[in-house]
Amino acid sequence: MSAHPFTIVISGKGGTGKTTLSSLLIRSFIDIGEKPVLAVDADPNANLHEALGIKVSETLGSMREEAFTRKIPPGMNRHNYVRLRFRQVIVEAEGFDLVAMGRPEGSGCYCFANDLLSECMTKLEREYRFIVIDTEAGMEHISRGTIGKPDMLLIVSDPGARGLRTISRIREIATQLGLEPEKIHIVFNKFKTGRAPVDIGNETPIAILPHDPDVEAADLAAIPVSHIPWNSPVRIVVRELAEKIRSLKEYQIS
Ligand SMILES: Nc1ncnc2c1ncn2[C@@H]1O[C@H](COP(=O)(O)OP(=O)(O)OP(=O)(O)O)[C@@H](O)[C@H]1O
Ligand SMILES: [Mg+2]
Repeated sequence: MSAHPFTIVISGKGGTGKTTLSSLLIRSFIDIGEKPVLAVDADPNANLHEALGIKVSETLGSMREEAFTRKIPPGMNRHNYVRLRFRQVIVEAEGFDLVAMGRPEGSGCYCFANDLLSECMTKLEREYRFIVIDTEAGMEHISRGTIGKPDMLLIVSDPGARGLRTISRIREIATQLGLEPEKIHIVFNKFKTGRAPVDIGNETPIAILPHDPDVEAADLAAIPVSHIPWNSPVRIVVRELAEKIRSLKEYQIS
């Protein structure tokens, strides 16, 4: 089996459930034994850690500011200093690690952070099975090409006509940037039973997540969403999705 982690980018319109899905997917990979997972919060308004129930004290962005402006300890070059600091930005938790990207540089580009991230990543001792990247709403990260080329792009959407338009825009930009169409999948979220999702033509969503009162309840009680009960409706479906992704990964490798 390949040692390369399988990278999944979670994209979509604001409030569709990207962070909810990211955290539940990470939990599910761990539940089915696919660990460790690297969780990457690429939303400048970092909140994936809350969904996962852990604390983050520093982002890659704030670390970068500091590591490139302050005096570095004597006897150390800046490169090594950045590497050392990178290790401190990664939060280790049970079954997963998390890194928050923070704000992009003045130019609005993550390039530096991304280069650094991939360089530091290769130096990490832990061999991640999956990397799950939660992004900010919209298509900025895709149009700027800052996320690179993932193994899978999941577009989260409401099961309605407006959601569909966003799906096609994201899909278009991603394919223009060279992502193979078969790596792009749709996840409908907040689906209420008894209602048919809008006709999506020849597209088949990889998963349809139910609207789940347990997610709402967790939100109201300020409980991390990934801590909802094992048998909550949405958790069951996301676990099935994790299994599906695992078999797609195996298929891609063989
Ligand atoms: N399946 C679901 N059932 C019920 N509520 C849900 C479900 N999925 C998400 N929500 C709720 O929808 C809201 C938005 O979810 P979330 O923060 O995951 O979206 P997001 O796409 O990450 O938002 P943003 O674009 O702001 O980053 C939250 O209040 C969340 O609790
Ligand atoms: Mg979010």
